[in-house]
Amino acid sequence: MLPIPYRIKAKRIEAPNVATLYLEPRGNEQLAPAKPGQFNMLYCFGIGEIPISYSDVDTSTNIIPHTIRGVGAVSRALLQTKKGDIIGLRGPYGSHWPIEEGFGRDIVVIAGGIGLVPLRPLIHLIATQRNKINNAVIFYGARSPKDILFKKEFTRLERNLKLEVIVDIATDGWMGNVGVVTSLLSKASANYNDSIAFVCGPEIMMRFAIEKLIALGQTPNNIFLSMERNMKCAIGHCGHCMFGSHFVCKDGPVFRYSDVEEFFVVREF
Ligand SMILES: Cc1cc2nc3c(=O)[nH]c(=O)nc-3n(C[C@H](O)[C@H](O)[C@H](O)COP(=O)(O)OP(=O)(O)OC[C@H]3O[C@@H](n4cnc5c(N)ncnc54)[C@H](O)[C@@H]3O)c2cc1C
Ligand code: FES
Repeated sequence: MLPIPYRIKAKRIEAPNVATLYLEPRGNEQLAPAKPGQFNMLYCFGIGEIPISYSDVDTSTNIIPHTIRGVGAVSRALLQTKKGDIIGLRGPYGSHWPIEEGFGRDIVVIAGGIGLVPLRPLIHLIATQRNKINNAVIFYGARSPKDILFKKEFTRLERNLKLEVIVDIATDGWMGNVGVVTSLLSKASANYNDSIAFVCGPEIMMRFAIEKLIALGQTPNNIFLSMERNMKCAIGHCGHCMFGSHFVCKDGPVFRYSDVEEFFVVREF
């Protein structure tokens, strides 16, 4: 339960108000390897602790990348840290994206905004395991062109999979898609009757995406989503993250949609 000290080895600005911290263990102690979709609790000493997903999962190194958007006290304090600062990490926690469900089938990934972060390690895995998957399509919606995350990776990824990006508001000479990410789904060459969908983004976006997927023939048991809830303990003790009868920290954050369908319409309070 005690956080392990990690040092900020590097920091990269990804977009306005979003940065990636590359964290290395300060001493001999380090976290166990994680799987795509899992998260850590990041402790900013004297301020607080928040859940943040792995932004990549690379077993060849002990450096952990976490990509953070500043929304409140702790996330903003984390964004203000600099190279050499120490923060506390505990984890990895939670369930992961079950990529193997997509082997021999099509995979559709739908990301909205910062929701691309938990999906990024999965997308990297899809690219390396491409020969086991039929079609692989990634749909990513960002607010505006300057909010698009991890742009530099797109050319490399597009060698292995189809990537469609859309923005809500076109600026900066943007020549691509404009609108909501769900408007792209019917354009996909995916066979929705025999595909697996992985979805992460704001809850409203996930609701519309799931509705559209089902209208296109996807079954609820073939849809996986990652939920966000406020957390304290992250180990299933405090009840802060209750989502219906589930704990998001322990049973999630990645859920099979058919397992949580009945609670999905209930808003967090
Ligand atoms: C499993 C899990 C994984 C997550 N992974 C990431 C990640 O990889 N990167 C990342 O940036 N965030 C991620 N989050 C969200 C992150 O934990 C919250 O943004 C953070 O807890 C906010 O804490 P705070 O103290 O900065 O803000 P608070 O003071 O708690 O909140 C400030 C304001 O922001 C609002 N707010 C809180 N969370 C969000 C949110 N997610 N989106 C929009 N508004 C919000 C609050 O309602 C409040 O109005 C994840 C959350 C979960 C549960
Ligand atoms: S955060 Fe305490 S039970 Fe999930």
